[in-house]
Amino acid sequence: MIIEPVIKGVVAKSAHPVGCEQAVLQQIQYVKQSEPITNGPKRVLIIGGSSGFGLATRIALTFGGSKADTISVSYEHGPSSKGVGSAGFYNNIAFKKFAEEEGRIAVNIQGDAFSDSIKEQVIEAVETYFEGEVDLIVYSVASGVRPKPNSDEMWRSAIKPIGQSVSGASILLETDTWQQTTLPPATDQEVDETIKVMGGEDWEAWVDALINSESIGEGCKTLAFSYIGPELTHPIYLDGTLGRAKIDLHQTSHSLNLKLANFNGGAYATVCKALVTKASVFIPGLTPYILALYKVMKERGTHEGCIEQMQRLFRDKVYSTGKIPVDCERLLRMDDWELDVETQREVNQLVSQLNADNFKQLGDYQGFKQEFLRLNGFSFSDVDYSKEIDLESWINSDAD
Ligand code: NAI
Repeated sequence: MIIEPVIKGVVAKSAHPVGCEQAVLQQIQYVKQSEPITNGPKRVLIIGGSSGFGLATRIALTFGGSKADTISVSYEHGPSSKGVGSAGFYNNIAFKKFAEEEGRIAVNIQGDAFSDSIKEQVIEAVETYFEGEVDLIVYSVASGVRPKPNSDEMWRSAIKPIGQSVSGASILLETDTWQQTTLPPATDQEVDETIKVMGGEDWEAWVDALINSESIGEGCKTLAFSYIGPELTHPIYLDGTLGRAKIDLHQTSHSLNLKLANFNGGAYATVCKALVTKASVFIPGLTPYILALYKVMKERGTHEGCIEQMQRLFRDKVYSTGKIPVDCERLLRMDDWELDVETQREVNQLVSQLNADNFKQLGDYQGFKQEFLRLNGFSFSDVDYSKEIDLESWINSDAD
């Protein structure tokens, strides 16, 4: 069959296997020609390793100098009667192929990271493939739901402001149109459920499970990703439900830091830059800011995607020879270039000019849309999209 991009609202409903392989390959090529990560970890567990920051972590640590073996957990689906499968599914296959070609171990575990059974499966894999210990645990799950234990019900995260309504614009990638929205304030239950889904509880459960199974190596570190952003985005992000969940994550980093100190390791909430990923396009009101940010940072030569952020994070911050640099709240800041004063001055100015008629010209909508398409394996000039894809062969390919 011929696979074409299908977008509903801001959700990609199709993915191109060959294009996903190309996306993984380009990230590998980037880290191979970058300044390498020295003193990096050798046995890495990534929870949420099939796309976005998690996949970039995996690529940076395997191909960017550290030569790490990896186990990745992700929640993806392969082709079936319902559709062609998710990009993350094909990313997993591509990563494994390229890593094994270089003699690295790459284990893909697909299932619900929140469940006990997946945690047990990972502990078994650590025993089998990593001689029983991990050196780094990266928690990079972005999910809208989390099953309640021993129940058929779910906690559901809500992306809403707290205490007041907030107006902003979303951009429907399906129709390339600007849509003005007003979000009502979250209820207390929505705040609590967002913390359950996107806060630090499951990160802590993973580290506890690995401590209890004696799977933590000497010096083991753990990282999870956060966002703070400039004041402009605070009403919808930092002061809203997601921000509450991230503050919970920051607090969790402190208790995990104490636990890992017993192994001479540490835990760090890592604040990243705003980027186009499967998860971030969902955040109403954030897109105009990202369009302006991309435009300004590209013009200034400071723009980074997930892979550039992760290579810099591990090379210059986590595994450089000095102490890990953290701010006064013990957060590891990768949003330093985003929050640069001059950058923010220009971004603010541009955001105030953007509207439904001019966002494609004034903001970096072309770059934004292309990045979104590429996340799903489309818009690569080296891929022949008119070529038939035999999905049967992918159904049988070894993603695990
Ligand atoms: P993404 O959507 O690209 O990746 C999410 C990963 O989580 C995928 O590998 C997916 O398979 C996995 N996942 C989702 N539900 C799962 C489940 N139940 N079990 C197992 N795996 C599951 O997301 P992205 O953007 O890379 O986000 C990762 C983290 O980075 C999140 O905590 C997010 O808040 C944070 N972050 C994102 C920023 C952005 O602009 N995209 C900025 C700063 C932080």
